[in-house]
Amino acid sequence: MRKKVTVVGAGNVGATTAQRIYDGGYADVVLIDIVEGLPQGKALDMLESGPVTGSDSSIIGTNDYKDTTGSDVTVITSGIARKPGMSRDDLLYTNMDIVGSVIGQVVGNSPDGIVITVTNPLDAMTQHALQVSGKSRNQIFGMAGILDTARFRSFLAAELKVSVQDVHAYVLGGHGDTMVPLVGPTNVGGTPIADLIPKERLDAIVQRTRDGGGEIVALLKTGSAFYAPSAAATQMVEAILFDKKQILPCCVRLDGEYGIDGLCVGVPVKLGEGGVEEIIKLNLTSDEQAALKHSADAVQELVDVMNNRKS
Ligand code: NAI
Ligand code: 2OP
Repeated sequence: MRKKVTVVGAGNVGATTAQRIYDGGYADVVLIDIVEGLPQGKALDMLESGPVTGSDSSIIGTNDYKDTTGSDVTVITSGIARKPGMSRDDLLYTNMDIVGSVIGQVVGNSPDGIVITVTNPLDAMTQHALQVSGKSRNQIFGMAGILDTARFRSFLAAELKVSVQDVHAYVLGGHGDTMVPLVGPTNVGGTPIADLIPKERLDAIVQRTRDGGGEIVALLKTGSAFYAPSAAATQMVEAILFDKKQILPCCVRLDGEYGIDGLCVGVPVKLGEGGVEEIIKLNLTSDEQAALKHSADAVQELVDVMNNRKS
């Protein structure tokens, strides 16, 4: 029997994520949204592509969480997205309400399923989903680090005219302006990146990575990125469904690792059928550790705003 994946939110990120998973043919997909007709129409359109793309999976659109029952993995993309002039943090209260209402339905219908949060501000929303659901950190975690790292790798590969597959890198920390593209461990086919790109140029690429989401928003004007985000979310789904034990940067609640306690931020984890099966501890320099702490502090500020609103 095929695995079952639910995608909550049939907007740009949700629909493209559903499409990527459906096209893979390894899972049946449920696309759910509050807007009537939207998930049904998009799912039917995708289903009708099956004979051409060769997917035998099923895909349905719905507004009813009963249809999501027994999902192995759920990807939560519901919420508002950034427009020009907005930071990810401007989305906080609206998306907090949306994620808070969605997560209960998701875990109520799929209590043993794994949940990947995508809605922004990502780290705060992951924290909120964990708090509201009472589930464990290996079961609910967020997508951002793969996207930020993919941007970093794309820019480095273009700079050096090498395959993206030969660029090995990590972006850690919160999914915001303080994210931490690590230069030390970044290498191209084993050669440290600092030996290949002059510092000034490398600094510019690091900054472009931090601004990567905003660069797309400024170009699109009506919303934010979704092709690379949906590819990143799909990579996480596949790592789980195929029990790949893949090491990927994901947003997970740290319980003392990296000197951070009780807060969701991006670090490398091992992803497999158990969800987050292990937190990978990199040896960071003191500067990198300080940058990660600074980024975690920014996430904590948002979490404090959420918690104060609740009380
Ligand atoms: P979008 O506006 O295209 O789609 C959002 C969808 O959510 C809409 O179809 C809307 O009807 C639906 N929705 C709203 N409330 C809902 C509810 N209660 N239940 C079910 N569906 C609901 O937005 P887009 O571009 O798909 O982005 C979605 C979210 O993902 C945004 O918060 C965005 O900032 C975030 N994002 C996060 C990334 C990351 O790296 N973590 C990357 C890209 C986007
Ligand atoms: C991005 O980084 C908006 O978080 C989204 O593109």
